[in-house]
Amino acid sequence: MSDPLSPAPLTDNQMRQAADRFGTPLYAYSAAELDAALSRVRAAFGDARIWYAMKANPNLTLLRRLHAAGVGFECVSLGELARAVKVGAGGREILVNGPAKSDEEYRLGGELGATFIVDRPGEVELLPHASRVLVRINPGLNVSTHDHLATGAAHSKFGVRPDQLPEVLVALQAGGHTLRGLHLHIGSAIRDAGDFGAAFERVAELHTLTGPLEVLDVGGGWGLDADLHGIAARATEAAASFGAALWVEPGRYLVARAGVLLTRVMGNKQTGRDFTLLDAGMTELLRPMLYGAAHPVRALWKGEPITSDLAGPACESGDLLGQDVTLPAGAVRGDLLALLEAGAYGATMSSNYLTRPRPAEVLWDGQQWVTMRGRETAEDIWAAEV
Ligand SMILES: Cc1ncc(COP(=O)(O)O)c(C=O)c1O
Repeated sequence: MSDPLSPAPLTDNQMRQAADRFGTPLYAYSAAELDAALSRVRAAFGDARIWYAMKANPNLTLLRRLHAAGVGFECVSLGELARAVKVGAGGREILVNGPAKSDEEYRLGGELGATFIVDRPGEVELLPHASRVLVRINPGLNVSTHDHLATGAAHSKFGVRPDQLPEVLVALQAGGHTLRGLHLHIGSAIRDAGDFGAAFERVAELHTLTGPLEVLDVGGGWGLDADLHGIAARATEAAASFGAALWVEPGRYLVARAGVLLTRVMGNKQTGRDFTLLDAGMTELLRPMLYGAAHPVRALWKGEPITSDLAGPACESGDLLGQDVTLPAGAVRGDLLALLEAGAYGATMSSNYLTRPRPAEVLWDGQQWVTMRGRETAEDIWAAEV
């Protein structure tokens, strides 16, 4: 069966128009696809509370849109907390997470009255007075994703082992904190609903230790073509073991499809491989290099299909945005290429390596282009230097 979801969230004309007007490399997003992704999550998970894992894309324009739609925020740094506050989220709409929280994060989260996600037994004594908490469980499961994206394996750094839960519960009570529920997040870009089912079952067994809870937060991590309804059914069952409300924390699923990275061809060359040289690379989109991620592409020129590697401008052999990619032959300098599914962990992971200004970000809101972030300049990059 073919994928019912359109792979490119913007038309070729829209992409051409954006590239001509704002230059490349450019992140361009579709508001309609962002809204559609949220609707798909709501259709699958019913009235589960949605917390956007803003690490996927923390742009204020996106945050404002999601907040207006009733979505809360999962934050893992002081900067992310500040973003949540900036778009008007109150403490009840913020989760403070992370394996090594700073004093400032505890202070600000405490002042806001946010809910903390406890990631290790030793963290309990660091919590602000009378905190409301979830305890993140490490279910000790290997899942079907890149090792760097697996967070619920026994060897990963995240969460409390099930055998450590009793001591955490005792410490929380002694400290006057309120246990709201348990939390887990087993990794990112996971396609197999069975992986989620196994993890949820393992956590559901812990109801014998905790008794009834207010919340079970099952995190995010859904691959873009994962069976959301299947995952939701298993999550709902696990939450029922605690008599708990279900919370979810999607990042990638909400924003990945909405965004494309637009880049222009700079030339071609052949060594032992065929390369299509682009004006975007690892500094704009790190996922291929970091996780071996394969982004679908849409080339906006015509030709017979050939196979080529997509190489960025950095002086790094690993600076490839794709390998053995099928492209139309005959690309010339200036031709436009879109890397799809780039709305998550794209712009936010872009870097200033090689004093490359980070790209602009623009949103097609259905009527017009809105600038979400202006293109950086070299002056912006060295502004804090002396
Ligand atoms: C605790 C937690 N929740 C949610 C997410 C979102 O994951 P994804 O973007 O794969 O949905 C992450 C991502 O790392 C995470 O660490």
